[in-house]
Amino acid sequence: MSDVPLLAVENLSVSYPLKRGLFGGALTLAAVRDVSFTIERGRTFGLVGESGSGKSSIGRAILGLTPSSGGRVVFDGTDVSAFGERLPLSFRREVQVIFQDPLSSLNPRQTVGTTIGQAIHRHHDVSHQQCQREIATVLDSVGLAAYQAERYPYELSGGQRQRVAIARALAVRPRLIICDEPVSALDVSTQSQVINLLIDLQHAFGLSYLFIAHNLDVVRHISHSIGVLYLGRLVEAGPADTVYSAPAHPYTQMLLASTLVADPRAQAVRSQARRRQPRSEPPSPLSPPPGCPFNTRCAWAADVCRTQMPTFEAAASQDRHAACHRIDAVASSPRLGGEKVARSAG
Ligand SMILES: Nc1ncnc2c1ncn2[C@@H]1O[C@H](COP(=O)(O)OP(=O)(O)OP(=O)(O)O)[C@@H](O)[C@H]1O
Ligand SMILES: [Mg+2]
Repeated sequence: MSDVPLLAVENLSVSYPLKRGLFGGALTLAAVRDVSFTIERGRTFGLVGESGSGKSSIGRAILGLTPSSGGRVVFDGTDVSAFGERLPLSFRREVQVIFQDPLSSLNPRQTVGTTIGQAIHRHHDVSHQQCQREIATVLDSVGLAAYQAERYPYELSGGQRQRVAIARALAVRPRLIICDEPVSALDVSTQSQVINLLIDLQHAFGLSYLFIAHNLDVVRHISHSIGVLYLGRLVEAGPADTVYSAPAHPYTQMLLASTLVADPRAQAVRSQARRRQPRSEPPSPLSPPPGCPFNTRCAWAADVCRTQMPTFEAAASQDRHAACHRIDAVASSPRLGGEKVARSAG
């Protein structure tokens, strides 16, 4: 069984029915379209894209919290999408989630210990004493002291609260954790502490992660492979280092150019790339443009991009894929080319 990936998302689509339009027609928002990727055991798949690109919808569809409108979610060889809302208890234990804002995902009226204890009791038949021991152990695993079990969420810092959310997920002994922007609300130094903690826990417990973020810099260190989402579609996917150091798709380049880095030389390269990008907002997912969905913002867009949807094809190497008609023109241009040199020298 171990040659099947822990999670396979196959041609997943998610649509939301909206209120009827002005003239009575039903409106459907296609939030995720035909998305496929796999997550291997003990590995991390980083999913990036702008706000509204469909990242959380994918996470929720995997967890069975949002119905999919097409495709399959296969966990450890079993098609769990076939279960609908009646997901097996084993899946509910083995796949846990951590959200961006622990203040709203933790019950403010419960101590840390009660919250973690409830999660343990939901999935494991343990005595009170055993549960208390497990709470102390799991708090220690996330770098919190046993006495913090008595604390309420408002008594903790943002980073400590996120450690509690990680402890709650970890306490039920999952195999996959969906991390939906777990560090976006934290300051930069706390972000790297929490990311390093997640990496340590992955090594200690053989965990797999789906790690969702807006920003490529955030996912790069934790991810083994990365997928880039635009208007509900994957536009690029491949090994993390390759996608980051030599982005193939113009949208991936735009995402990289739009974030700040500490290294002044790398920042200069990004700023230069940013000045070459047309400035605009993403189109509405209710009315994506014909052809390539990125054509309205792309510096390389040609006639074919405005009429034909590009296919998701192997680009440059077999393990990397991108959906772009102009992939060769983009590859031969100097965009962000100095990035890797600047980073390794800095
Ligand atoms: N329950 C819902 N009903 C209707 N539309 C929804 C619903 N949830 C999400 N959407 C829409 O689906 C699209 C994708 O939303 P989603 O939350 O998956 O994006 P996201 O990439 O997670 O964004 P963010 O980075 O802001 O969290 C958006 O256009 C959003 O407005
Ligand atoms: Mg989201």
